[in-house]
Amino acid sequence: MVGDVLVRVMRADEWAEARAVCIDAFQDPGIPVLLDLLRTSWSWHDDLAFVAEVDGAIAGMVLYTSSFVDAPDRVVDVLVLSPVGVRRDLQHRGIGHRLITESLQAVAATRPEPLVFLEGIPSYYPRFGFRIAADMGFTPASTRIPRAAFMAYPLPNYDPSLRGALVYADAFWRADGVGLRE
Ligand SMILES: CC(C)(COP(=O)(O)OP(=O)(O)OC[C@H]1O[C@@H](n2cnc3c(N)ncnc32)[C@H](O)[C@@H]1OP(=O)(O)O)[C@@H](O)C(=O)NCCC(=O)NCCS
Repeated sequence: MVGDVLVRVMRADEWAEARAVCIDAFQDPGIPVLLDLLRTSWSWHDDLAFVAEVDGAIAGMVLYTSSFVDAPDRVVDVLVLSPVGVRRDLQHRGIGHRLITESLQAVAATRPEPLVFLEGIPSYYPRFGFRIAADMGFTPASTRIPRAAFMAYPLPNYDPSLRGALVYADAFWRADGVGLRE
């Protein structure tokens, strides 16, 4: 079993440790590229990088960064949850659940954006309140994103009349981190 889990905002001096945890979680060469591009981009928010601390060490990290929805009448700022990773030796013990639940609560309490988008495991994210984004009137940023993987979480400022296309911030494109490749 794991010790006490504390979910909190990452401190700036913890970036190297949190980055290494996320890289370990994914084992995907695109992840370090995405992390570094996000960290240095306009879409980064210091207070929207959350870590799960277990026994004094970082066990997981989740980032929320800015992207857009191209709505018929305007461009709307939204958030994207990506990436989220838990250290491989600590996965499947509820740490990801705590990290996502508590970070979403913080985001919902503080942010003006109407929605958090993600593309992810279809069976995992509905438990947190994520819904199929296409059912809410949104089109994905790429045809390579499976319908069931493209999800959105409504924040307090969500207006159900909002429609449009998710437009990822450039860091996701530069890291080739959008959708599934053949
Ligand atoms: C996804 C991740 C963040 C979840 O964190 P976690 O601490 O392992 O998750 P929890 O213990 O809270 O929940 C575990 C549940 O998540 C779901 N889950 C986790 N990984 C899954 C996967 N690859 N496929 C399907 N379901 C998965 C399962 O329902 C699992 O339940 P189980 O333990 O009974 O099998 C973590 O497994 C991880 O870092 N994975 C590698 C990186 C990754 O894939 N990130 C997300 C991309 S969408």
